[in-house]
Amino acid sequence: MTDLGTDLPTARRLLETGAVVGIPTETVYGLAGNALNIDAVLRIFEVKNRPTFDPLIVHIDSAEKLGRYASEVPPAARRLAERFWPGPLTLLLPKRPIIPDLVTSGLDTVALRVPRHPLTLALLRSLDFPLAAPSANPFGYISPTTARHVADQLGDRIPYVLDGGPCGVGVESTIVGFPGGTPTVFRLGGVPLEAIEAAIGPVVVRTHSNSNPAAPGMLLSHYAPRKPLALYPAGGTPGAVGPDDGVLAFRAFRPEVPPERQRVLAPSGDPTEAARNLFAFLRELDARPDLIRLHAELLPETGLGRAVNDRLRRAAAK
Ligand code: TXA
Ligand code: MG
Repeated sequence: MTDLGTDLPTARRLLETGAVVGIPTETVYGLAGNALNIDAVLRIFEVKNRPTFDPLIVHIDSAEKLGRYASEVPPAARRLAERFWPGPLTLLLPKRPIIPDLVTSGLDTVALRVPRHPLTLALLRSLDFPLAAPSANPFGYISPTTARHVADQLGDRIPYVLDGGPCGVGVESTIVGFPGGTPTVFRLGGVPLEAIEAAIGPVVVRTHSNSNPAAPGMLLSHYAPRKPLALYPAGGTPGAVGPDDGVLAFRAFRPEVPPERQRVLAPSGDPTEAARNLFAFLRELDARPDLIRLHAELLPETGLGRAVNDRLRRAAAK
């Protein structure tokens, strides 16, 4: 069984030997390994049961390291890095040869990000290599937002989880690339679209992926609970709710369903709070033995509501 703790030297020593370790970030927990070590990277894919055609994000401790791993940084990328790093933003940039092809699934771009978590930033600073880290969930399942979530699912396969408490943002980073020079959002995430556009002007949004994540991007069915999940419109009512159904509501309990079968994402109505609770609540309802089907309310399509809806739609797309 894995150890949970806050001991940086332990995490560092393991990573230096090529092991993979759970690490906290502000978005979700990552499954980290030395991005420059093929065996460590292979181990990440193996532990997560992830197909090697789905590339990994490389975590660095500062924007100053961009030039080590990216051969070209367009001005808009530079501006986004200055504005949002450390933070929930990932940039797709042309890669330098030092990044193994395995990390990028053979693509000529590398995904780079500086996470905003004190423990992981300190860890990165203590290492002389960057960390490749996908979310620390088995491939296709709900992403982990606590160290316990990681240990529950991958605990028998990894030696250590660095416990940085619950994730403050709760949805993965926003991914921005620059194909043909056009700023393009490939994944809606922790930095709202409005904030990206406020920084660099209008962007193209291309998050509706097919089955080819190398296109690049995301598989449609993802972040999925094991139970069937149906969605209902923001402020609307769920379809027929059976006696064994659970409800994940946005800001208020559904009056027609007993409260003990419900979770409310954000009583405040703040989509940021909803994002923070999303995966933990979904996981909790999924684990309840008394519930067989789930219903979730979509959020208004603003701010982090977009990222929450994106995750809910993918979770429902089984
Ligand atoms: O918030 C996050 O980004 C978290 C934390 C741990 O940093 N990480 C994360 O990693 O969400 P992962 O592997 O679950 O999702 C990474 C996404 C995948 O959809 C992958 O296809 C895409 O990034 N990606 C990675 N490299 C890419 C590339 N070179 N081109 C296009 N997409 C890429
Ligand atoms: Mg993931």
